Amino acid sequence: MSERGRFRLGVLVSGRGTNLQAILDAIQRGELNAEVALVVSNRPEAYALRRAAQRGVPTVVVERRAYPSRREQHMAIAEALRQAGVDLVVLAGFDQVLHPDFVKAFPMRIINIHPSLLPAFGGGLHAQADAWAYGVKVSGCTVHFVTEEVDAGPIILQAAVPVLDDDTPETLAARILEQEHRILPQAIALIAQGALRIEGRRVLRCKDAR
Ligand code: GRF
Repeated sequence: MSERGRFRLGVLVSGRGTNLQAILDAIQRGELNAEVALVVSNRPEAYALRRAAQRGVPTVVVERRAYPSRREQHMAIAEALRQAGVDLVVLAGFDQVLHPDFVKAFPMRIINIHPSLLPAFGGGLHAQADAWAYGVKVSGCTVHFVTEEVDAGPIILQAAVPVLDDDTPETLAARILEQEHRILPQAIALIAQGALRIEGRRVLRCKDAR
């Protein structure tokens, strides 16, 4: 926690950063009592970096090519997050698989947003198009804790959307994205409030939580 007692977030991004924007907007609207302490990108061209800068959020670029291994790159990210004093690491469109040592450094303190209803269509970078091509009639998005196995950690929140006959992968992805922007800040708020408990791999609401 920071001196003001706010829950501190470290957000990892690689691209356009609409989920980062949703977090920043939820904070600004007073719906999420947290602050983004640091945004980390593995890509210097990520538009997400501009969104962070526009809100005065510190950013750092940690490129894969600047390090001899993915492990060293990710441990450099871990060190930056530790120095920023983050309480929770949020993967918001980060396009690398985290090294297991990074995951171990933040046990049950890393969450990810994935654009499908896990465990369906996990593991890839094109979950919306995969769901569309498969012909499912319902898809959606999942916020989950990150464990060493990709897209397989305990599920915090999910939102479902219909897949319509005249959808394209793009229209489906846009419908899913709207829900991502809703449930990612909501999941962070639940964690920040200490409103969740974990039983096995089931994430449940604490009964005494607000
Ligand atoms: C989202 O679809 C998210 O579910 C996936 O990567 C995409 C990131 O989009 N993990 P954005 O950069 O937040 O706009």
